[in-house]
Amino acid sequence: MTEPHQVAATSPGRVNLIGDHTDVADGLVLPMAIDLATTVTGTRGGQFVEVTSADEPDIVRIDIDAADPLAASSGWGRYVAAVVAEVRPSTGFRGTVGTTLPVGAGLSSSAALEVSVALALGFDGTPLELAELCRRAEHRASGVPCGIMDQLAVSAGVAGHALLIDCATRSIEPVPVPNGVEIRVIHSGQKRRLAESGYATRTAEVREAEERIGPLREIADPAAVADLEEPLRRRARHVITENARVIEFAAALRRGDLAVAGEAMKASHRSLRDDYEVSTDVLDSLVERLNGTPGVHGARLTGAGFGGCVVALAEPGALTEGWLVRPSSGASVSR
Ligand code: GLA
Repeated sequence: MTEPHQVAATSPGRVNLIGDHTDVADGLVLPMAIDLATTVTGTRGGQFVEVTSADEPDIVRIDIDAADPLAASSGWGRYVAAVVAEVRPSTGFRGTVGTTLPVGAGLSSSAALEVSVALALGFDGTPLELAELCRRAEHRASGVPCGIMDQLAVSAGVAGHALLIDCATRSIEPVPVPNGVEIRVIHSGQKRRLAESGYATRTAEVREAEERIGPLREIADPAAVADLEEPLRRRARHVITENARVIEFAAALRRGDLAVAGEAMKASHRSLRDDYEVSTDVLDSLVERLNGTPGVHGARLTGAGFGGCVVALAEPGALTEGWLVRPSSGASVSR
């Protein structure tokens, strides 16, 4: 008899340095995979995918041949079931999930779960194929019409680099994160509220704006939104100006101009607050405090908003709160 197939699959989370709510309009984003991760360990075989979690009381058990693997699932099990529905593995899996990521904080804990489960189940496509599959799983599990950023950032991360992703072509350009800068992620303490419903509403508004004035990605002049009524005008203006800020930020990072990079982050936060309206008073005051702290180049909310985390670019030692995160490589599997 052969030994059961031992597998350990791990996926980092991600923090987005700049470029939020642009992926849904085929725009530009600049996330990085981080050194907080989710790991799935176990053995392949049998008829069921059965996983336990160090952080959750319930056991997830899914028949690999179930017509609808999501039918009987709830909570975190929906993400596992959605990945089973997408991967359709030929054998089951029995194992455990553990994570060092804060769950539901805007650091892509769900993308990390999807990607590590897909790898544990034997998916062996390219990082882009893995990301596309897990994005479809996210849509199934949560119903949120998310873009490709999170799943692609955690699948394709490059150690020491952020990723300049063009969501239209899916091209990825690694941008080195300079030595002598710290990236800190600080939780606002506010649970993400309205993240699902608010995200879908904003995305629908962006689509409507695009139906009226064409793909926002192709528009460089923010004045082009003048004929739209509110709130479409501000939503479109956010996307157009945010795409420009991603380019500006990436160039500044490459030449080590942290002051310019920091200003782009501050402007991004203002745009997310005033034009895209996904910030909260709690996030605003945290960002304001951090931006007033000596040695902080710039801080902004990161991810979908409506609560959750902020990200700050700072001189070493300027901040001690939150997580000091390092740009890390993407998901991997060993067996
Ligand atoms: C969430 C989504 C991403 C992206 C961000 C906002 O994290 O999953 O696709 O839209 O919000 O930038």
